[in-house]
Amino acid sequence: MSKKTALILAILGLFHGLTAQSYNALWIPDTLSGTNFNLTIKDTFAQLVTPGNQTLTGGINNKFWGPTLFINQGQTVHMNVTNNLNDSTTIHWHGMHLPAVMDGGPHQVIPPGTLWQPYWNVTNKAGTYWYHPHLHEMTLEHLTKGIGGFIIVRDAEESALNLPRKYGVDDIPIVLTSRRYDANNQFVTQATSYGDYMLTNGTPNAAVSLPKQWVRLRILNAEIERGYNLGFSDNRTFYIISNDGGLLNAPVAVTRVKLLVGERIEIMVNLSNDVVGSSLNLKAYNSGQTFGFPGGEPASSGQFGSLLNNLDFNVLHINVAAATANPITSLPATLANNTYWTANDATVSRSITITNGNPGGPAFNFDNLSFQLNNINKTVNLNSIEKWTVTNNNVFGHTFHIHDVQFKIVDRNGNANGVGNYESGWKDVMYVPKGESVSFVAKFDDYADAIHPFMYHCHFSNHEDDGMMGQFVVTSAAGLDKISTNGLDFAVYPNPAKDRIFFSFANENPDVYYLKIKNLNGKTVLMMPKPLLEAGIEVSRLESGVYFVELTDNATKTTTVKKFILE
Ligand code: C2O
Ligand code: CU
Ligand code: CU
Repeated sequence: MSKKTALILAILGLFHGLTAQSYNALWIPDTLSGTNFNLTIKDTFAQLVTPGNQTLTGGINNKFWGPTLFINQGQTVHMNVTNNLNDSTTIHWHGMHLPAVMDGGPHQVIPPGTLWQPYWNVTNKAGTYWYHPHLHEMTLEHLTKGIGGFIIVRDAEESALNLPRKYGVDDIPIVLTSRRYDANNQFVTQATSYGDYMLTNGTPNAAVSLPKQWVRLRILNAEIERGYNLGFSDNRTFYIISNDGGLLNAPVAVTRVKLLVGERIEIMVNLSNDVVGSSLNLKAYNSGQTFGFPGGEPASSGQFGSLLNNLDFNVLHINVAAATANPITSLPATLANNTYWTANDATVSRSITITNGNPGGPAFNFDNLSFQLNNINKTVNLNSIEKWTVTNNNVFGHTFHIHDVQFKIVDRNGNANGVGNYESGWKDVMYVPKGESVSFVAKFDDYADAIHPFMYHCHFSNHEDDGMMGQFVVTSAAGLDKISTNGLDFAVYPNPAKDRIFFSFANENPDVYYLKIKNLNGKTVLMMPKPLLEAGIEVSRLESGVYFVELTDNATKTTTVKKFILE
């Protein structure tokens, strides 16, 4: 080999993984199912750029990203989230309808080394949801590391349909993101809104083999800021069957669809007329967007630029393979029987305006007010049906996400017909382009809690971290009657304990809001919102020593602390 050839090969090698010539097999996240989930958040590393240094990443049971959790409507799921990072973080169950204290927003901080055990009854419709960190001012950094995962909800309505449901075979999870690397192959998290290199399920230059039949793609935009104008390289028609919060009433045919940060769609693609051995690309048709579409900016570097901006680029290379046994051969004409809220159902209207922050301060906020952890922006009555209008007079497009509920978009710029068919289902994130105002209607039912708020925010994590977020509590008048002046009076037994502690209460019907166990240094090692105490608490994972168990009374929010020894 001549020196020159060697040099050319070396250069080609350097860009291996970054050029279109070489593809890497799309990583399909592992799965967990049942009602009990063990999720360990950790720092790790992955070879995302080759050759050279590995990249420091974060994962949940994995090197980047986390397992897909399959949960069933009607079941109560228990999450055992262990934070093995050196930092505090939170895990938020994006799109789930659950009590605020289980939500995993900025208030449910999990200190390093702590096990957090939220649980809830699954009432969401079948669909594609996700979980991700949500610590205030740290969301971008933790998300950039790759901490997050899919949640797939099953229910009877969806299960009755003849849809692809073989995970990783004809039902493919696809998480879209991109990253910028520094000279040492580490993620850049400062002064950058966009990545330079696409990662599909954490895979650079991803390719997948899909069978020659109808396939279902569940697509999540987990970017920092970039929107995707998705389509196939041959401009074929595909069908949207689901929005953020579940199935549409009927499939919607499109050739392009915009997917903004935080949004999910499920699509059906017909590969049955494709030739085995042929290929096509799922692409972002992001060139030529009007200014304000995130990722449409012309610059190729700097804070608001990227190598992928204002470009059409590959998201996933698809090789068509032989059909599977018992393939899905058609698209159902009807999918669900949703009855949506209309503007007329709303008894309360609220407006939120996207504003420019102060010079030198945050770039964007809501109503000229940046997020403050101890300021409740809105109080919503339990069971209230409300219309929220978000107005963007800003120079740039944003997204709006709200916790607790799934909503129906009822108008864009006051025009009910301005709502796209592609976004006509249940949603929890919506795109608010510059100069537009968008309204949704939602019902705030089931979960009242005057103490723990839910969030609403722009889902661009840089904007959210910067204060483009607000919070609301859902309150029930009934709850106020219950206020008593007493805290909880209890004893821990056996003491010393071996691997399980039990509680005996002096109160008749103890209503425990929160349980925390702290070690001698005052460090929290176990956190359980609304703990179920009848069967005792497993403590065998803790080292022997002296501990303090702190219970918070639901009515008074007073805390009582008892000491116990673990042998
Ligand atoms: Cu996806 Cu407040 O979050
Ligand atoms: Cu959320
Ligand atoms: Cu924003």
